[in-house]
Amino acid sequence: MSEAATGAVARNLPLRKLPGLVRHPLEALVEAGNAANGDIVRLGVGPVGPYLVTSPDHLETVLHNPETYVREGLLWTGVRRAVGEAILVTEGAVWKSSRDVLRPLFTSARVNAMTDRMAEAIRDAVDGLAEPAREGRTVDAGTELARIVCQATTRVLFGDKITVSDAVRMVDAFGVIATEMIPRIVVPWAPGWLPLPGDRAFAAAVATLDEIVLPLIREARRHPDGGDDIISALCAPREIDGAAVTEKQIRDDLVAMVSTSTETTIAVLSWLWPVLAAHQEVAEKLYAEIDRVVGGAEVRRSHLPELRYTRMVLDELLRLWPAGWFIPRMAVRDEVLGGTRIAAGSTILVSPYVTQRMRAFWSDPDDFDPERFDPDGPKPEPHYSYLPFGGGPHRCLGQYLFAVEAPLIIATILSRFRPHLVGPVDFTPRMGASLRPATEAKLVLRPVRAVVP
Ligand code: HEM
Repeated sequence: MSEAATGAVARNLPLRKLPGLVRHPLEALVEAGNAANGDIVRLGVGPVGPYLVTSPDHLETVLHNPETYVREGLLWTGVRRAVGEAILVTEGAVWKSSRDVLRPLFTSARVNAMTDRMAEAIRDAVDGLAEPAREGRTVDAGTELARIVCQATTRVLFGDKITVSDAVRMVDAFGVIATEMIPRIVVPWAPGWLPLPGDRAFAAAVATLDEIVLPLIREARRHPDGGDDIISALCAPREIDGAAVTEKQIRDDLVAMVSTSTETTIAVLSWLWPVLAAHQEVAEKLYAEIDRVVGGAEVRRSHLPELRYTRMVLDELLRLWPAGWFIPRMAVRDEVLGGTRIAAGSTILVSPYVTQRMRAFWSDPDDFDPERFDPDGPKPEPHYSYLPFGGGPHRCLGQYLFAVEAPLIIATILSRFRPHLVGPVDFTPRMGASLRPATEAKLVLRPVRAVVP
């Protein structure tokens, strides 16, 4: 008897028990996770419902077995329409070739070596906030964060080969793509030739990406400069399965790298403003740390080890609003997972957002409490109850970069300005490729010191 035949059939959580699934999918999924209390359940009825997998043990098995649980299915088909065969979505030889090229660019030694250059780029971008702050003008937090992150990223990761304004245009295009792909995910049986709402905007956004990246790739291949940036690395000659790497493959990886290196960081930091407005005690502690460590100086790499509370705040932001909130898989063969029978072709819903908000693994999971991540306290247990960067062979390449870039951005902004939220605090998430607040914060920035450069 095959092992698959020995597993138990998963309990069904009928859709009528999840009335909010369409209107409030995130809340409904957390509710389903709490109701199942770590067991594997099937959402919906009949043979088609996806399996909701939330327990850390099961997640570890799924994420560490990419030959069995692959990145296929609805979400990935949608993402592939924009990024083709990029590292973010592929498996096997194509994925390995991209990962081998990119991994050396993200080691801690490489990131440490670029940290002061990144700090300088962030400082230059944050200078742009001085004028509105002086004039008491309201700024849009999402727009400003996009500008700051794009400046940091283009300088250190893309060797200034992409301009900041083109990077911002790409971020806007990713936003359109993430929204406009939804009709095709919801109606997956619609043939490609049948026009659906969103198709034209989606195609226009993809055209914008190509218009920006293709000339850069052609130039880099014509005139290799041996640089240590992502574009040079991807364009260096290499073979995949015995054939020379194609322009299309480079394009897909480059688009994916611009997307993932910007959108994730912008998304996580965009939750800081409502958090600071709603949690006075967190704001006071954070400001006190940054004033003590940085004061009126320029933020540098040497400040980072002392920004301990800043890191705790970031860890808690990543728990409640992990940018990679949904990383589903598809089982390619019949399997038994945690004693439950999973049929080949089934979708496995893996969501850091859900597991990180479940009562079974976290006390008072809805409270914003950075003290959970006190480095002198106990580590989150069990291991995969906290997985904002995924796990296994597809674990995020940018985790260390984020751990350096995000505190630099927070410390640079908050050592110079105190943000004041204009309008009510709203923690409603807007689902897209990442999670952002439904209403982007509007801020008035008050200079911390009397003279702002
Ligand atoms: C807060 C920031 C970030 C979060 C929460 C995040 C989250 C994730 C997650 C959950 C995965 C796993 C995907 C999967 O298992 O299917 C992933 C993969 C990846 N991330 Fe990130 N990411 C972040 C920042 C970054 C940055 C800054 C970069 C690059 C500069 C990056 C590059 C990548 C790449 C290349 C992969 C694919 C790895 C592979 O499949 O081999 N990420 N990320």
